[in-house]
Amino acid sequence: METLLQVKDVEKYYGNKSSLTKALDGISFTVEQGEFTAIMGASGSGKTTLLNCISTIDRVSAGQILLDGKDVTALKGDALTKFRREELGFIFQDFNLLDTLTAYENIALALSIKKTPVSEIAPKVREIAGQLQIEDVLNKYPYQLSGGQKQRVASARALVTEPKLVLADEPTGALDSKSAKMLLERFSDLNVLWNATILMVTHDSFSASYAKRILFIKDGRLFHELVRGGDSRKDFFNKIIDVVTLLGGDLSDAL
Ligand SMILES: Nc1ncnc2c1ncn2[C@@H]1O[C@H](COP(=O)(O)OP(=O)(O)OP(=O)(O)O)[C@@H](O)[C@H]1O
Ligand SMILES: [Mg+2]
Repeated sequence: METLLQVKDVEKYYGNKSSLTKALDGISFTVEQGEFTAIMGASGSGKTTLLNCISTIDRVSAGQILLDGKDVTALKGDALTKFRREELGFIFQDFNLLDTLTAYENIALALSIKKTPVSEIAPKVREIAGQLQIEDVLNKYPYQLSGGQKQRVASARALVTEPKLVLADEPTGALDSKSAKMLLERFSDLNVLWNATILMVTHDSFSASYAKRILFIKDGRLFHELVRGGDSRKDFFNKIIDVVTLLGGDLSDAL
């Protein structure tokens, strides 16, 4: 396997000297091409900050993030635009749909930006909408959708371009268990069929059990790791529950 992502001693501070928040405190880990990794940790532990730094939405204060050996923190101009448009699928914690576009247009926009031929756009949107069961809401605007529907539209938008790296921030947070299962199975397919690399933040042990590896984050640092190995999803789920219970304290309160 090839290393796709290297996070090296990354620090991220918010605020100024009088009120400084260390959101990331020297975190390091690597992700291999084609790995499906979940990130767990209490609220405020730095999960969203980490994804935002990897996606280049946010700048690191110190350290490096290498993707395919290239430092994304140093990407500029066309190379940065190309990386964001063509290689990355981001599912945001707050969905980030464009309010003035319908669900269909929100999803189609991701393909237009990537310069997908016009004739391919409608079939691709219909296909992913079918898989995530949102066909009947495609003509609605975000304000007309439920939280779970918005989340699935946002997921469809991120996955429709078949990106190499999917960053998903609580993608199942607003979903009932059936919809969550559907989305997680779609992630697994993408992971297996296209060898997509997935980094998924979740509070939920069930969602995490679909991943092959779990990174536990506390106070902006990596402090535990679980690897699925040959375990079935159910056995892995039980191990995650054990860790979450054993770790105790503020982490278990939040998970
Ligand atoms: N833009 C910002 N300005 C100042 N502080 C911030 C900012 N964004 C995040 N923080 C702080 O950084 C820390 C990490 O926040 P982050 O959003 O990464 O947590 P999280 O693990 O995603 O939490 P949650 O599970 O609640 O989504 C928190 O203490 C938060 O208050
Ligand atoms: Mg968050």
